[in-house]
Amino acid sequence: MSVGVEPAVDRNLIDVVHLKKYFPIRGGLLKRSVGSVKAVDDVTFYIKRGETMGLVGESGCGKTTVGRSIMMLTPPSSGYVFIETPKEIVRNFSELVRLVNHTDAGDMAPEVALQIADRIGTMFGSDNCEITVGKKKHMCIDAEKIRKTVTSAPPGKLLEGPEDDVRDLAEDAIEEIIRRYCINFRRKSQVRKLRGRIQFVFQDPFSSLDPKMLIKDIVAEPMVAQNRYAKSGKRLTKEGLRNRTIELLERVGLNVEHMYRFPHEFSGGQRQRIGIARALSVNPEFIVLDEPTSALDVSVQAQILNQLNQLQKDFGLTYLFISHDLSTIRYMCDRVSVMYLGKIVEYASKNELFARPMHPYTEALLSVIPVPDPDLRRDRIILPGDVPSPANPPSGCRFHTRCPLVIDICHRVDPLLADRGNEHFVACHVR
Ligand SMILES: Nc1ncnc2c1ncn2[C@@H]1O[C@H](COP(=O)(O)OP(=O)(O)OP(=O)(O)O)[C@@H](O)[C@H]1O
Ligand code: SF4
Ligand SMILES: [Mg+2]
Repeated sequence: MSVGVEPAVDRNLIDVVHLKKYFPIRGGLLKRSVGSVKAVDDVTFYIKRGETMGLVGESGCGKTTVGRSIMMLTPPSSGYVFIETPKEIVRNFSELVRLVNHTDAGDMAPEVALQIADRIGTMFGSDNCEITVGKKKHMCIDAEKIRKTVTSAPPGKLLEGPEDDVRDLAEDAIEEIIRRYCINFRRKSQVRKLRGRIQFVFQDPFSSLDPKMLIKDIVAEPMVAQNRYAKSGKRLTKEGLRNRTIELLERVGLNVEHMYRFPHEFSGGQRQRIGIARALSVNPEFIVLDEPTSALDVSVQAQILNQLNQLQKDFGLTYLFISHDLSTIRYMCDRVSVMYLGKIVEYASKNELFARPMHPYTEALLSVIPVPDPDLRRDRIILPGDVPSPANPPSGCRFHTRCPLVIDICHRVDPLLADRGNEHFVACHVR
């Protein structure tokens, strides 16, 4: 739930742009790659500071992989994760990448070159400016020159010479934006340092805690890691670590007696609390909560969810809340993203999504939520067939094999996520 933190209007806390994660499938004696599981396939969304963004979808649709990729626990195959980057930069960058990726080498239409020049000009604040790539290279972004060249070409005629310049320019601009803002292209030491700002609570409280470690060491582990990067005056002493560990355990409803026990001596709910205390230990701004209550009894679930809401209020946290349970999502989240087979098919504010679902898959998901009022009957939409394999997803719209509204184009063309107003994004040719 939103914590009333005043977010900066010109930037989101997290922007995920064209994120992909393909896991190789290995076969044969030599364990060669014989294909790939397209677990996450071109996912773009954002999370505002202070909010809870829900990520919902059936088992295996890629929710955990999205969360792990943002944290760099599973490095993405491609795509970009931005932290606190001006929206204008992210929007232009995302469009620039799309333009470059959808243009074949040596086959760039003048209109595309012009759009590329405009995007670069907007991002670097000038039509003709110099940027530094890395430490040594310098490059002149002469967007105005490109504009003149392409506007003098006959409409629709392909560029023959300048397209290489435009492509080089675009690639340098992309490289520079990545260097300035992207989390996932940073060096390992920088990523570790970033874990002070971003933390993860794992899906399974039974396997996520090291059975050989004492609780005091499990909770303190991220603080010890961050100590290495802290300036000497700001490092926690042994005593400081101990006090902070006790404080964190108390904050999640445990106490000092629990410090010298091993994980197997705790119930599932208590283990999940230990996971939350551990995530909080480094004062993060953002926490990925991966099904934090799905392995727990309903009564314990409610306690943990309320505690997470309270912690969010107290510490101004931002959450990505992953779940396959729409009732929990409705209780916890401000906005919701719906995933199907590696793609986000719809996202909107919670109220908008639950009141006016647009994507046929979202409609089907919402239609099976139990309604407490027996007089209020809702037609359940039962989708035909099974979820296809992410190793061999359907062409065009991935949902076309099960969609009640499918039309011809759905078999061939993958629909783009488009804003239908009021920050309600949908990927569908019909809706
Ligand atoms: N390390 C891995 N190696 C190979 N395939 C993987 C790996 N991790 C996940 N996958 C595959 O990627 C797909 C997405 O998995 P993921 O765990 O992200 O789904 P999920 O939506 O979190 O599912 P659940 O709701 O069951 O937790 C699945 O098909 C899964 O089998
Ligand atoms: S694009 Fe076509 S197949 Fe996909 S959800 Fe929309 S109508 Fe259904
Ligand atoms: Mg999962």
